[in-house]
Amino acid sequence: RQPIDELIAGLTVDVPDHPEPGIVFRDLTPVFADGPAFRRVVDGLAAPAHSDPRAAALADARAGERAFDVVAGVEARGFLLAAAVALDAGVGVVPVRKAGKLPRERIAADYALEYGIATLELHTDSVRPGQRVLVVDDVLATGGTLTAAIALVEQLGGVVAAVAVVVELAALGGRERLAPHTVHALWTT
Ligand code: PRP
Ligand code: HPA
Repeated sequence: RQPIDELIAGLTVDVPDHPEPGIVFRDLTPVFADGPAFRRVVDGLAAPAHSDPRAAALADARAGERAFDVVAGVEARGFLLAAAVALDAGVGVVPVRKAGKLPRERIAADYALEYGIATLELHTDSVRPGQRVLVVDDVLATGGTLTAAIALVEQLGGVVAAVAVVVELAALGGRERLAPHTVHALWTT
C-alpha cells in the first residue's frame, strides 16, 4: 500500500501564480475527488485523536470511547473533510465560519491574512464545556486560520483533542505558531 504522503503528493496539483503572482498554490481537489484517496485521508485525519498523547489521556479517562466528541471544520475546504470524518466516527460536525454567515449567538476571532485581517466565527452552542473537539482543515500554511479556530473552541470551554490537516506547508511556520498544540499533517512539504 502506498504511503499516504506519497498518495496525497501524487494527486495534488501545483498551480503557479495563484491566487497571486509568486505563490504556488497546492490544489487538493483531485485528492478529494479520488474515492480511495479520500477514504484514506478521512481515516488519517481521525487517527491522531487516538494517538496524540494529550488526546489519548482524555480518551483513557473514558475508556472504550472514541477520542473526540465532535469535529470542527474550517470554512470552506475544511467542511468537506470534517463532515466525512464526523459521519465516519458517529459524531456531529460544527462549522467554523467566515464572518457574517452564522445566524445566531456567536463568538469571533480575528486572524492575520497576508494583507489585512479576517474573522472566523462559531455559534456559542456548537461546543459545550469539556467536549473533546477534533479540529480539521485541508492546509496548514501560516497557521493564522487554525489559531483562530482553536481559540474559538477553547473560548467555549472545548478541549482540543487534536488538530489535523491534509497538508502542512512547513516553510510558512504554521506548526510553530500553533504551539503548544501539535498539528498532525498527513503530508508535510
Ligand atoms: C485556506 C486553507 C486554510 C487556510 C490556511 O483557506 O483552506 O483554511 O487558507 O492558511 P493559513 O494557515 O495561512 O491561515 P482560505 O482562507 O483560502 O479559504 P477557503 O477554504 O474558503 O478557500
Ligand atoms: N494551497 C491551498 N490552500 C492554501 C495554500 C495553498 O498553497 N496556501 C494557503 N492556503
